[in-house]
Amino acid sequence: MEEYKKKKILCVGLVCLDIINVVEKYPEEDTDSRCLSQRWQRGGNASNSCTVLSLLGAPCAFMGSLSSGYVADFILEDFQKFHIDVSLVSERALCELPASVVISNINTGSRTILHMNRNLPDVTAEDFSKVDLHQFKWIHWEGRNAEQQVQMIQQVEVFNRPLPPQERITLSVEIEKTREPLYQLFPHGDLVFVSKDVARHFGFQSAGAALKGLYSRVKQGAVLVCAWAEEGADALGPDGVVLHSDAFPPETLVDTLGAGDTFNSAVIYTLSNGGSLQDALTFGCTVAGRKCGFHGYDGIAEMSAL
Ligand code: ADP
Ligand code: FRU
Repeated sequence: MEEYKKKKILCVGLVCLDIINVVEKYPEEDTDSRCLSQRWQRGGNASNSCTVLSLLGAPCAFMGSLSSGYVADFILEDFQKFHIDVSLVSERALCELPASVVISNINTGSRTILHMNRNLPDVTAEDFSKVDLHQFKWIHWEGRNAEQQVQMIQQVEVFNRPLPPQERITLSVEIEKTREPLYQLFPHGDLVFVSKDVARHFGFQSAGAALKGLYSRVKQGAVLVCAWAEEGADALGPDGVVLHSDAFPPETLVDTLGAGDTFNSAVIYTLSNGGSLQDALTFGCTVAGRKCGFHGYDGIAEMSAL
């Protein structure tokens, strides 16, 4: 049991550069205005989720692709600063690092993201087949190259099969973007995060309605979770009971960039430590809500004792 506790959580997905422009007011098109501040931050859902897991005190690793050069060095140094294991990062020397220009409105907390990935490929099932799975207790996939990701998940299922349930790796997936190929991930997670955008795309107007409407897509026994910004988040497991947590808005809303990634990590953190689904939802909303009250993620370190 002690050995199991020490195992890491692996997040597979994107790392990119976020160039964050903090503004007092969202700019008009074709105007020239000043920002309050501007900063570089390591971004990408899986990469942000690692940051939060690490700040909460969970040993974790990131798997994804990275270019070479000074932006990649900035990213690697930042991973190291947060004690995130990067031994599974594939370096693609000839590619350029994806980047997002983010307009972060300090008065509303809104974040407007312009993202570009020129030519950096995602990691493949073949890359994943080289991973020593013994070091992990949980693997989380940010839905991206779904066909390859399904094959990665199948590899973990083969690894899990001979093991007693308490030693198996738990699998979670995030379906955030409204892209048809990502929907094939629904039946592949023990825990599936579906976003408000995807829920709306399917015609649902609340988290509870989305969970009931989409639950038939997940595998038997799985848990489906849907976060809904300032309305908090809901979860539905095999017992058919929809659980809910309200949001915990900070005194002043400052920065919602990565709120979803923060929520996912806090949920995974709680469940991987044996907490209940209700505890996980409440902790997810607590950490994500507080995160919206400051820039970046550093302030999360103070929440690990919650
Ligand atoms: P994202 O848009 O980053 O994917 P979500 O909208 O899914 O994030 O929100 C994730 C969680 O973050 C919510 O369940 C909520 O707990 C918290 N959250 C997000 N926005 C707010 C907000 N404006 N006020 C309070 N909590 C928020
Ligand atoms: C936040 C985020 C940013 C990144 C963008 C990519 O959830 O991961 O860090 O720029 O989304 O879509």
